Amino acid sequence: MGGRFSMNSYLGQRILSFVREGDYAHAGEEEAIELALSGVEKNTRRLILDAGCGRGGTADYLNRNGWGRVIGIDIEPESIDAARERYPGASFIVCDVCGVDRHVTERPEIVCMFNAYYCFEDQSGALGALLKIARPDARMIIFDHVDRGGYQDDPLMDAGEPFLPNPLRLSEVRERMSSTGWQVLDIQEVHDAYIGWYASLMSRIERARDRITDMAGHRGYEHVHGLYQGLLNAAQQKRLGAAIITAAPVS
Ligand SMILES: C[S@@+](CC[C@H](N)C(=O)[O-])C[C@H]1O[C@@H](n2cnc3c(N)ncnc32)[C@H](O)[C@@H]1O
Repeated sequence: MGGRFSMNSYLGQRILSFVREGDYAHAGEEEAIELALSGVEKNTRRLILDAGCGRGGTADYLNRNGWGRVIGIDIEPESIDAARERYPGASFIVCDVCGVDRHVTERPEIVCMFNAYYCFEDQSGALGALLKIARPDARMIIFDHVDRGGYQDDPLMDAGEPFLPNPLRLSEVRERMSSTGWQVLDIQEVHDAYIGWYASLMSRIERARDRITDMAGHRGYEHVHGLYQGLLNAAQQKRLGAAIITAAPVS
């Protein structure tokens, strides 16, 4: 394994997909999708945009379970190739979320992000671009990591970079949204579930030790194990958690 291995790399996401038994790179996998979409009626005719869709598991789940027709976008071409190959029922486009309005011409009724917003370097740029394409009556659902206080003072590092570059700070979310044309309708904190999801993920990582070592070597396994143990510790110490933000374009 070279020095550039990180959890957000293609190999990192393949390992996570294997451990999570689905093409998911977000906490709570299908349980989190159900939780985040629980207030949304199913409607196969509506358009959903999954921004930062990764390997496409969430787009496929939404599509297959009747929430709507899904377009997934991601900046990482290899993830989009994998998504297109595995999930022909959804559409996938390679693009930076900040330029989504130049690539997606249809107007989604739902915009969702599952553990993607925290990765965006320019979060305001992303919100602005998504606003340009969203329908005026759209709902935006952001499921993401939350810095509950003090996490960024001693952040987990992944291959020299912050593992969670920009987790949500709930005290700032309303202002960030309103400065980009969105209004927050609801904030649901799901910190206890987050602890459970990462405790379960740690057990699965340990059970998959041999397979992860085959994929990424012994150091790769130690890297994955150390990062997720650190994340679980931070969750148990109430420094990290998760929330579901629901927002709408300001009318
Ligand atoms: C932790 S993964 C989550 C993937 C997916 N939502 C899931 O739950 O499986 C974060 C994803 O955000 C993507 N991403 C990061 N910055 C992006 C950007 N500026 N535009 C589009 N996608 C981006 C990454 O390539 C990665 O696939």
